[in-house]
Amino acid sequence: MRGAFMDIAHYPVLKEEVFSYLRPKDESGLLIDATLGEGGHAHMFLERYPALQVVGVDADNRIMQVARERLAPYGNRMRFFHTWFNVFFRDYPLGDERPDLILFDLGISVFHYEKGERGFSFRKDENLDMRLGEELEITAFDMVNEYPEEELADIFFRFGEEGYSRRIAAAIVRAREEAPILTTGRLAEIIRGAVPMKYRTGRLHPATRTFQALRIAVNGELARLEGVLEHAFSVLKPGGRIGIIAFHSLEDRIVKWFFREKQKPCTCPPEWPICKCGGIPKADILTKKPVRPGEEEVRLNPPSRSARLRVLEKREDEDFS
Ligand SMILES: C[S@@+](CC[C@H](N)C(=O)[O-])C[C@H]1O[C@@H](n2cnc3c(N)ncnc32)[C@H](O)[C@@H]1O
Repeated sequence: MRGAFMDIAHYPVLKEEVFSYLRPKDESGLLIDATLGEGGHAHMFLERYPALQVVGVDADNRIMQVARERLAPYGNRMRFFHTWFNVFFRDYPLGDERPDLILFDLGISVFHYEKGERGFSFRKDENLDMRLGEELEITAFDMVNEYPEEELADIFFRFGEEGYSRRIAAAIVRAREEAPILTTGRLAEIIRGAVPMKYRTGRLHPATRTFQALRIAVNGELARLEGVLEHAFSVLKPGGRIGIIAFHSLEDRIVKWFFREKQKPCTCPPEWPICKCGGIPKADILTKKPVRPGEEEVRLNPPSRSARLRVLEKREDEDFS
């Protein structure tokens, strides 16, 4: 139950759906939770499968500290890697020990909005930072105060699908000529002032898309997702499964196309006259359509409303790593 354990901010989304697709064949197998967060999903798996080993990865050391405390009772069944998931799977530190299951629950956690203190939420007045990993050099402050207007508009449009990207970028540039934009509160105010009245009073807060775009840009989220999938698939055991929960269409599109590629019978370039790859799919998509939360989950946990889970199973005979 939320908050019952320690001071946990985040409900794991699509719990039952994740369980029904990511069932370990061998109950003493290995799950890699590539986005550990506060350890909600990891905790459920450790509880349900008493012989399962779990490896948790997260780029954010502060949230990982919460998971470390929460999951300490599971001793050496739970291991922690503080790194970006694309780096983890590229440099794969577990050698011959390969996962039966891999879970990605993308984006950020309620923890980040409520307790992150790094400017993830426009509902708070905090310094503009938005870095998950402290080692990143460019913050949201740097982008907002230094990037050229066109580049800002491009970020808002590409990573936020913001229809008023140009107006918002222009308003930011005008405002920063007066004084640096230091806080989320000030940025949200500039955005509100830049968009038409009907957008200000709509269902979505007018700063939602711009904030999402800045966060994605600061953390290189889409590039990391594009970069991780092939590596994660190659370390997965034959017969193993990858489940990915996306929260917006930009992420979901990347996942959908990667999964389709793996399920395609032939992957030869179209200009080749005959098939040389053997024409056998490498994996099967288990979720024809993305799995969405039911009404009850959305009622209990509104942030789950945009979650969509897709699951891929690697073929038993597929092993090229
Ligand atoms: C939605 S939360 C995961 C919540 C978790 N499943 C739970 O139930 O508590 C996503 C987590 O992934 C982390 N994260 C996002 N992108 C990452 C990346 N590229 N590499 C590593 N961690 C990442 C964030 O710091 C955040 O803690």
